[in-house]
Amino acid sequence: MGGPPTCGRAVPTWNPSIVASAPSQTCLDAARVCRIVCASTAIRSVRGPTAGASNVPLMSQRVWHRPVPQVGDPTSAAQRAEDPAGWAFDELTNIAVQEVLQARRDVRRFRPDPVPDHLLMQVLDAGHKAPSVGHSQPWRFVVVRDQASRDRAALLSDRERLRQAELFQGERKSRLLDLQLEGIREAPVGVVVACDRRVPAAGVLGRAGFSDSDMWSCACAIENIWLVARALGLGLGWVTFFRPRDLADLLDIPEGVETLGWLCLGWPDERPPNPGLERSGWSERIPLADVIIEERWPSTGGPAMPVSHLAGPDPKAVVSGRDTGDDRLTVPGSLGVLDVALNRILALNPDAPTSGTLIVAAGDHPVAKHGVSAFSPTVTAEVLAATRSGVSLGAATAAQIGLTVEAVHAVASRTTGDMVDADALHPSDVDDLLAEGEQVGRRLARRGWVSLGEVGIGNTTVGAALACALLGLEPSQAVGLGSAADSAMLRKKISVVSAAVSRATSRYGDELASPKLALAALGGPEIAFLAGVTRGAAMARIPVVLDGLVTSLAALVAVRLDPAIQAALVAGQQSREAAHGQVLTELGLEPILQLRLRSGEGVGACLATQLLFTALASRGGTARVVPLPSNPT
Ligand SMILES: Cc1cc2nc3c(=O)[nH]c(=O)nc-3n(C[C@H](O)[C@H](O)[C@H](O)COP(=O)(O)O)c2cc1C
Repeated sequence: MGGPPTCGRAVPTWNPSIVASAPSQTCLDAARVCRIVCASTAIRSVRGPTAGASNVPLMSQRVWHRPVPQVGDPTSAAQRAEDPAGWAFDELTNIAVQEVLQARRDVRRFRPDPVPDHLLMQVLDAGHKAPSVGHSQPWRFVVVRDQASRDRAALLSDRERLRQAELFQGERKSRLLDLQLEGIREAPVGVVVACDRRVPAAGVLGRAGFSDSDMWSCACAIENIWLVARALGLGLGWVTFFRPRDLADLLDIPEGVETLGWLCLGWPDERPPNPGLERSGWSERIPLADVIIEERWPSTGGPAMPVSHLAGPDPKAVVSGRDTGDDRLTVPGSLGVLDVALNRILALNPDAPTSGTLIVAAGDHPVAKHGVSAFSPTVTAEVLAATRSGVSLGAATAAQIGLTVEAVHAVASRTTGDMVDADALHPSDVDDLLAEGEQVGRRLARRGWVSLGEVGIGNTTVGAALACALLGLEPSQAVGLGSAADSAMLRKKISVVSAAVSRATSRYGDELASPKLALAALGGPEIAFLAGVTRGAAMARIPVVLDGLVTSLAALVAVRLDPAIQAALVAGQQSREAAHGQVLTELGLEPILQLRLRSGEGVGACLATQLLFTALASRGGTARVVPLPSNPT
């Protein structure tokens, strides 16, 4: 026994470059096993002579071999300690990985040549090797070769492209329409990656907190597919210019299974060195240093938000909106604040719709337990039910002008705090509510104007706290009487708001001014939801008419997240809530009505919408004038 290592490969310390000339996985594994054997031989050779020289009993002279598992990880702790980087692949493999990463591109032009089945399986197998939350493997790959299905998918995508182009203005819009954004018809294979979400999030290890982590897992699968396709010389283009439901319907995908878009796969008829959107001047790569943050998000001078290409109406649209009022047989601006609002609305869309929806969002507020409202929290559910039945004050007002009424109970999926002792919402619930609202806003936009309403016992207290966080107001400047508080209750509200804001400030510091964080710290669910509705409708260039403090705060959150949204807002009224005027000033909006309303539920928004409908019709019905000759002689 003993003696120097006798392994044929003689690799005393692991040096990746040794296997560089033969980097196949089998060879690497063989080399690793060889190294492990060599290492154990070396240990024996060191111990052997020492043990032999002493008078230690025979049993202790024996060399004990570490049992090396024949399945799983064969390395020992000593080997890993000796060579922490020993798991690395050789340099050539690393260079190859970097090259593939660098050269992966979104491909939009394809050759008609077929993709051999074994290559298709190879790329799908790469997808199936992706990491997944709780190892749930939620991806399903729908392989579409049928020409008719591909044609129909291409039509859906073309339609969506036109719809999305409407969200942009002028030059941006033309540029978007110039871009080739899919290759669905040309690519011989389509792979629709779908995420099977039919199990509850809490049933999947690691998904309870991040409910979308199943979708992220599918995105990881797509990236694997993309990289292996690139390594094989295949082109892949990821197309999300779809309404997810359209795509699901096309392929009979059941409820609860969500698509992540269409992957066009085929031999590329372009070999682009850098992203198409970069080449066309749409965007550029951000320097790495700009996206890395050390330890904590800085309170000032942090990384810029991703660029939004959403824009307010261009100058021409603004002028032509105003011109529709200037050539009438009346003094320009004769309808005062109404004319200002109409000009904004017509700049957004010269064919302003004349119907729409009142969307009422209800929210529950644990802060109500601190005695900040004259009413029991059960009233929220009552008014919600009455709104659904069309008999709340808000719904009845909406009915007078033919607005459709929708009512939503905005509920967070996790337990919420009372904002005084604990945060009101979990950050991921804020995101979910914003996203849910945005979807609703987009849907409602198809029906015309969107007027906002809300109900939620305790929400003027939440609103006041939010106004303090977003505008830096003092609680005494922000708190108002709500629906029916007396002066004792007013003092109570001020102390509750002060306690909540100081708790949140000591936890988050200046970051509390950031809209999503403020929503998480202070609430409430209906405000987050309505912020999403505002965004969804505004992106579709549909006027959003605000009601009281709570809906205006929702709009402020939306505008802080994307300033271009402001162009779609109309302030229906200014309520009695102390902070409302300041929120409207921050939004740059002049209220149409000041009626000392206290109702909430969208009553003020409906009344203002009614006036705007009337004003729009009046402007349209007033005689046009022709300009006088400039130099009558
Ligand atoms: C989630 C996701 C969705 C995408 N959807 C589309 C799409 O609908 N149409 C399109 O042309 N490109 C789409 N792309 C491709 C991106 O535009 C492309 O990845 C980006 O411009 C960077 O270019 P590169 O992939 O060539 O590096 C998508 C990419 C991702 C990650």
